[in-house]
Amino acid sequence: MSTIVVASEGAGYGFLVDNQGRLHQAGFGPDIDAHMERLPDRIPLALYPLAYPAYDEEPTRAPALRVTHGDGTTTTRLKVQDVRVADPQTDILLVDPDCPLEVTLSFHADDHGVLRQWVSVTNRQPGAVTLHEIAAASPLLATPAPYLTHFGGGDWSAEWTTTTEALTPGTKVVESRGGVQPHLRSCPFFLLAPDGAPEESDGTVVAGALAWGGNTRFAFERTTTPGVRLWCGHNPAASEYVLDPGATFVTPEQIWMWSTEGMGPLSRRFHRWVRAHAVRDGDALRPVVVNNWEATFFSFDTDRLFGLIDHTADLGAELFLLDDGWFGESHPRDDDTTGLGDWQVDQAKLPGGLGPVIARAAERGVRFGLWVEPEMVNPDSTLYAEHPDWVVGQPARHRRRWRNQFVLDVLQPDVADFVSGVVDRVLAENPGISYLKWDANRPLTDPGSPALGPDRQANYWVDQARATWRLMETVAERHPEQMLMLCASGGGRVDLGSLRWFHEVWLSDNTDPLDRLRMQWAASHFLPANVVGAHVTREGDRPVAFGCAVAMSARFGFDLDFEALTDEELAVCRRAVALYRDVRPLVQQGDLWRLVPPGERSALEYVAPDGQGAVVFGFQLTAPTGDAAPLRPGGLDAERTYEVTAVDLAADVDPTATGGERRQGAALMEEGLQWPLREPCTARIWVLRSV
Ligand code: DGJ
Repeated sequence: MSTIVVASEGAGYGFLVDNQGRLHQAGFGPDIDAHMERLPDRIPLALYPLAYPAYDEEPTRAPALRVTHGDGTTTTRLKVQDVRVADPQTDILLVDPDCPLEVTLSFHADDHGVLRQWVSVTNRQPGAVTLHEIAAASPLLATPAPYLTHFGGGDWSAEWTTTTEALTPGTKVVESRGGVQPHLRSCPFFLLAPDGAPEESDGTVVAGALAWGGNTRFAFERTTTPGVRLWCGHNPAASEYVLDPGATFVTPEQIWMWSTEGMGPLSRRFHRWVRAHAVRDGDALRPVVVNNWEATFFSFDTDRLFGLIDHTADLGAELFLLDDGWFGESHPRDDDTTGLGDWQVDQAKLPGGLGPVIARAAERGVRFGLWVEPEMVNPDSTLYAEHPDWVVGQPARHRRRWRNQFVLDVLQPDVADFVSGVVDRVLAENPGISYLKWDANRPLTDPGSPALGPDRQANYWVDQARATWRLMETVAERHPEQMLMLCASGGGRVDLGSLRWFHEVWLSDNTDPLDRLRMQWAASHFLPANVVGAHVTREGDRPVAFGCAVAMSARFGFDLDFEALTDEELAVCRRAVALYRDVRPLVQQGDLWRLVPPGERSALEYVAPDGQGAVVFGFQLTAPTGDAAPLRPGGLDAERTYEVTAVDLAADVDPTATGGERRQGAALMEEGLQWPLREPCTARIWVLRSV
């Protein structure tokens, strides 16, 4: 019997290897060393399940791994053959002694308490094997009262819908399907609390995330042991993977982080890890963006764009993003039925091309960004007329249109070259661009490709996601100077794997600030504010000052037809930009404190890591039903004196003015800020500056 511990900042797994070489899980949680030391000398192995059960090893439990071997054997037996420790990584090599298959469980301890884990399977048999199910992780959480929080279950425009529920006997499955934009329906993140519903500043909770841009599956099997057996990985639905002799299949990474002090400290550490490791240039400040999409949709010309660019500069915003509709020379992109795939500027709409528009932006000191959707094609396009065989499909089937478009089959090498070449050409032909929004507006249907043999068409779901990642990587490497936003019909691609090539995501096409506030709140459990694009629009017809405050609590921007605003509303926007640029380091690089969850009201705060300053956002969402308790900021330096300025963006005063009331950090945290809001859809922003 031997013991293996893999952990980051003390939290992780404890394993036991028995005399037959089987790997058991003896613990999963914080303080794992102490837990392992407390194990009895004579260990009743029956209490400790297999750490990574293959099919038929624990016949009554769902397996982590199910394989059909080359000779037709459907069961698998795994024995530990080697344990390689090369800090911060541990690899546990399991082999099937009868049907040669190597299964390596890899664990990597990152800083900030993140433990990453993945599984590699190498086929050592003379024939191909089929991987039916292969989890990235399948731990057992020993607990009598598990609560799960998951995000999604909605659809387009309802991303990040939060559900917290007690797990009851049976299996709860949270999964996404459809590929390309899987996270529209289910975000690849969850929280699991072993002792009741998770709390903000107390109690144990583990965060899980699958770094995968394709279909995902999380399953939580509540057993009477008592405990929860998890299954985390890419979704095996219709995805049996044929693995050739000598080939290795590597699962996506499952990411873990534990907290014994509730969700607040967990999120703060998670954000630091995301900024340091998961997202591109995570510590860099993001610009204030003006996007034309909800202002113009497809209907614009050069003059209209000049007007928007002038407003961008007048507001003090820093980047103008031209969205869908600028291309399609012979199939003009005047709506979503034509032009996708033809990435030449529509000269009828923009005579002289993008040059004059980019020049106008440069003259006004504004950076220029452009929208692309390189993976897609409209049947009504020159590209499709020339290459009808470049789209995803199955030979016997009529291909299904979705938003009037097809998905390009990136497993075909020519198509992959075309897709990455789209970005090269667009950037070469239109110098002066420094930001790209990469969109993808339909799910995958008719999954199949001539690049795969008839016996391995089900590999498509995984291979397509991997091929798309290779394209994203190519684009990011060839164009390191470009800032990239990842969007897929809204928040369809919001995962910690894809983000390594992107600076930010578009969270949802739902931009009603009341809904956005809830979505941003949900996403804030994992994503730092500088990764979450949030724009003021007219959706929901809320007051502009309220919309600004909501968007300012993330990566701020606008999708507004400024010509339709009153002078007073424009002044509100101008004040919002001035204040945002002032507090941006706090919002984008500070520590988040979620103070009041969305209900009648809501509030959150960003604090400088050195306690030098903070910004508090307070939102009144509905009519108050009683007196509101004072709002107590967190994370301040108790000894410091802060100058407190309460900003109402709707009021005609300089939002960056200093000279507010002076208060001690301790008093602010104990006595709080008086809640001044009584009207629905109003906001207050308090700036706390250390003096
Ligand atoms: C979906 C995106 O989420 C929108 O912001 C916009 O870019 C449209 N696509 C354009 O077609």
